[in-house]
Amino acid sequence: MRKPIGVFDSGVGGLTVVKELIRDLPDEDIVYFGDIARVPYGIRSRETIIRYSIEDTLFLLKQDVKLICVACNTASSVALPVIKNHFKVPIIGVLVPGAREAVYATRNKRIGVIGTRGTIKSRSYEMEIKQLDPKVSVYTASCPLFVPFVEEGWYKGPEVLSVARTYLAPLKQARVDTLILGCTHYPLIKPVIARVMGPGVTLIDSAKQVAIEVKKILASEGLLNTNGRKGDHKFYVSDNPEWFSDLAKSFLGRPIKNVRKTSNV
Ligand code: DGL
Repeated sequence: MRKPIGVFDSGVGGLTVVKELIRDLPDEDIVYFGDIARVPYGIRSRETIIRYSIEDTLFLLKQDVKLICVACNTASSVALPVIKNHFKVPIIGVLVPGAREAVYATRNKRIGVIGTRGTIKSRSYEMEIKQLDPKVSVYTASCPLFVPFVEEGWYKGPEVLSVARTYLAPLKQARVDTLILGCTHYPLIKPVIARVMGPGVTLIDSAKQVAIEVKKILASEGLLNTNGRKGDHKFYVSDNPEWFSDLAKSFLGRPIKNVRKTSNV
């Protein structure tokens, strides 16, 4: 079906999901919305995150999307359970695919989750994992400084390493053997996180799992685009397209031209 997949995020981080979607579904059209005017979502109240997520969803529905992917972990954790049942198109978040993969990967049944304050406070990963396997113990840590580090392009170096050591110490102490990178930005500092956690810990990158899940849903609902043409990708933001374009390259692996600013959100 020649309708686009809609993806939204609080800002630029959701492009890590878009990157995987393009890799797995090169024929699909994608419309992305980054809510730059109101980023970050990770520090906002539950009510505000839900309100923003509903507005983001409505914007994408106006673009006639066939499925919506909530690429933001914070919005997935806090708002998805509320918005999922109110719209006709399938809406998927980043939580379930990541949780499923982690439960599959763990050997000692000790899983760590890192994310924004909003994500960790919601305990959504914990609940999802417990539902999949009640015997798993879940250890969580919010890592608020990781987002600004990544947005400043600081992917490595002594400062990031030192902050990572501090944030991750309790999870190391808890002897987790699997760690969910529960935030759009964290895949960009994966080497630092891997170094701190050590070689025995499997890092779960939700973006990859989400793309697999989207493909599965589109296939099972008969919604895949089968006309064999390369997909078209449109990018909208609620503010500052230049800032978005500048950062896009590191998240997507290539520059983006023609980022459009919309005031419809
Ligand atoms: N996109 C957010 C997430 O994955 C990180 C940035 C923010 O706090 O808005 O949780």
